[in-house]
Amino acid sequence: MNNSNTFLIDLNDASIEEKKKYFIERTANHPLLSKTYLEIREKIRESAGGKIYLVYGPTGVGKSTLYNKLKNTVTKSHQMTNVHSSLIPIVGLELPAPDNGKFNWKDFYRRILREMNEPLIDKKIKKDHHPKKFIPNYLPSTAPELRESLENSIIYRETKIILLDEAQHLLKVASGKNIQDQMDALKSIANLTGAIIVMFGTYELMDFFDLNGQLGRRTEEIHFPRYNINVKEEADAFINVIATFQTHIPLKNNSDLSSHWEFLYERSIGCIGILKEWLDNCVKEALNNNENSITIKLLEKHAPTPKKVLKIANEVLDGEKNVKDMENQRSLLRDKLGLNKLSKVSAESSKKKGKDVGKRNPTRDIVGIVEDGA
Ligand SMILES: Nc1ncnc2c1ncn2[C@@H]1O[C@H](COP(=O)(O)OP(=O)(O)O)[C@@H](O)[C@H]1O
Ligand SMILES: [Mg+2]
Repeated sequence: MNNSNTFLIDLNDASIEEKKKYFIERTANHPLLSKTYLEIREKIRESAGGKIYLVYGPTGVGKSTLYNKLKNTVTKSHQMTNVHSSLIPIVGLELPAPDNGKFNWKDFYRRILREMNEPLIDKKIKKDHHPKKFIPNYLPSTAPELRESLENSIIYRETKIILLDEAQHLLKVASGKNIQDQMDALKSIANLTGAIIVMFGTYELMDFFDLNGQLGRRTEEIHFPRYNINVKEEADAFINVIATFQTHIPLKNNSDLSSHWEFLYERSIGCIGILKEWLDNCVKEALNNNENSITIKLLEKHAPTPKKVLKIANEVLDGEKNVKDMENQRSLLRDKLGLNKLSKVSAESSKKKGKDVGKRNPTRDIVGIVEDGA
């Protein structure tokens, strides 16, 4: 049987480095990624501005990938439709790890201003729309003068969306009271500028919720979960992602990853980013050693260790439990207020009228993967 990988015809003459690059750059647009992406897009579209979204999920689930996807698509669509190249509709920043265990606001403002190309800002743009000067009463620890520059830049540049990756770094402060200050600083940026802030981070981000009831109104959470093998659709989707990556492996023969799905799940706990990094390492080594396919031996060699995976799994299970608790509390609250009953009644009545608004088609979703390499 001819086992050659026909998909990669145009890579046959490519160098090893080009082949590595090809595989590393493949991004699978898998169902949980596209679902979370669409959820954020939808919320951004509907939002009146001034809101903060917290997108949290496991390490290696693909949060930074999602952050980049959002940043790239919004930037691209702006470039295609907009005449003012000086306007920056979306800015993104990976929050730096804290200095001496403490989040550094000055550094944050400098970085984000640099990201907005602040020195080149043409003060003439939108001069007429320049808002009244804010006289904010900020805490010195959050660098008020730099914050004001940022607020002005956001207004000049007509920035609508600010993305912050690794946002759990904001929590690296001494006490709960200080965490509150961190959130307040962001809330006031969102408030004064009308921009939407989307924060991406680990489940630690959920600590923001525990601190402030008021957070609720202006802040919304979005969960980016891993694949749960106990849910049939998710297990199928995970296996589909493996099959997709398999077809893109730039080696002479087909690699049989699909039959090792259980091992691949065990060490990735259903996080596509962990899976992909692992496969990247296998592909690199196979190419370096002139091997024809990815063998189970190679998979085992590059598998994250059980110790490491267990540590991640414990954090993730804790995070998922918090998400579940929060959902249950919400449901309990709605129960107590009679809102759950009310929505049941309205669903019944719309059913009678033949309007099954929220009801989904009974057939299973197609979990096809659209590959969209960079
Ligand atoms: N859908 C995907 N397809 C291909 N590679 C992915 C995908 N999601 C994540 N990765 C890769 O996995 C690695 C970890 O993903 P990342 O987005 O950094 O995870 P997180 O930010 O949640 O920790 C990165 O190298 C990234 O390119
Ligand atoms: Mg990340």
